[in-house]
Amino acid sequence: MSILDSLKAKAKADKKTIVLPESMDKRTYEAAEKILKEGIANLVIIGTPEEIAENGKGYDISGATIVDPFNDPNKQKYIDKFVELRSKKGVTAEMAQKMMEEDYMYYACLMCKCGDADGAVSGACHSTGNTIRPALQLLKTKPGISSVSGFFLMEVPDCEFGDNGIFVFADCAVNPEIDAPKLAEIAGLSAESFKAFTGGEPIVAMLSFSSKGSAKSDSVTMVADAVKMAQERFPQYNIDGELQLDAAIVPNVGASKAPGSPVAGKANTLVFPSLEAGNIGYKLVQRLAKAEAYGPVLQGLSMPVNDLSRGCFADDIVGVVTMTAVQAQLAD
Ligand code: ACO
Repeated sequence: MSILDSLKAKAKADKKTIVLPESMDKRTYEAAEKILKEGIANLVIIGTPEEIAENGKGYDISGATIVDPFNDPNKQKYIDKFVELRSKKGVTAEMAQKMMEEDYMYYACLMCKCGDADGAVSGACHSTGNTIRPALQLLKTKPGISSVSGFFLMEVPDCEFGDNGIFVFADCAVNPEIDAPKLAEIAGLSAESFKAFTGGEPIVAMLSFSSKGSAKSDSVTMVADAVKMAQERFPQYNIDGELQLDAAIVPNVGASKAPGSPVAGKANTLVFPSLEAGNIGYKLVQRLAKAEAYGPVLQGLSMPVNDLSRGCFADDIVGVVTMTAVQAQLAD
């Protein structure tokens, strides 16, 4: 059974309600039909009757709840919540209404915040920034967490490394600026994500172009500092570094470059030293090793909201909705 099939089985066992705000995109309906048919999640689609009729033509989405953002009995509740959360940032009721009507992702996040949905998925026709900004502003981080980051669950075919080819890669999606405390937090959140999504024990490598002091630079020092912070903050997880990629995942290279490391040669959770490295790294493995890359899945948010690639297919939306539903179960 693929990892996605086992996550689908998990999602079906305790169905959650996921909002899809991109009613202007046909892929939303193709995915919705599959999700409803398979019973993976309950769905809310945000859109006007005209948008739904025009873009959803030919798809059976009769099991979904449709919310018209211009004619919704709950709308005032969402406007009030928006103002309560953002009046300090200058948001008035008029501005809240306009933002919700112009950008349905705000509407989706407010439905989550008010308990009318368990999570949201968007990004098939919106940039990552525009998808996740409403969630950062309205849902915020989990208690004790300072920044949201994004991981991919990688499934590499015919691979003896990691957990039989299963890895978590992070941060691949969110933080263009990084420092040691943020990187340490990403290591802990990624370990948690590996455990939650695979059921296995995370073995976390904090990656660099240096292994245990073999090279010197400010970026190596930053990763080495982050390793110490992560080990102190998350003693329950097996975290080590700084390690080169080969030392992290290949047993004989790990033994020679980082002898005695409990992680070297065995890592299944890879924390990249920058967003550039993480984003390029996952795409290299996806394209060259023909790996499945599920995500980006956001970690550290108070409620599950996830992004899609604009090049996604309907099946990718099904995958990300599945992961969002599983995250929502974990939040219970
Ligand atoms: N964690 C938690 N909160 C955050 C984070 C974070 N990582 N980043 C920003 N915020 C909060 C801010 O504190 C702020 O809160 P406030 O309004 O209550 O004060 C709010 O979010 C908005 O922050 P800004 O800095 O104004 O938002 P901005 O839009 O400039 O940046 C964003 C946030 C969208 C995440 C930005 O950093 C970004 O675009 N990152 C890169 C995304 C990207 O393009 N990734 C690569 C593509 S993804 C792929 O290939 C799969």
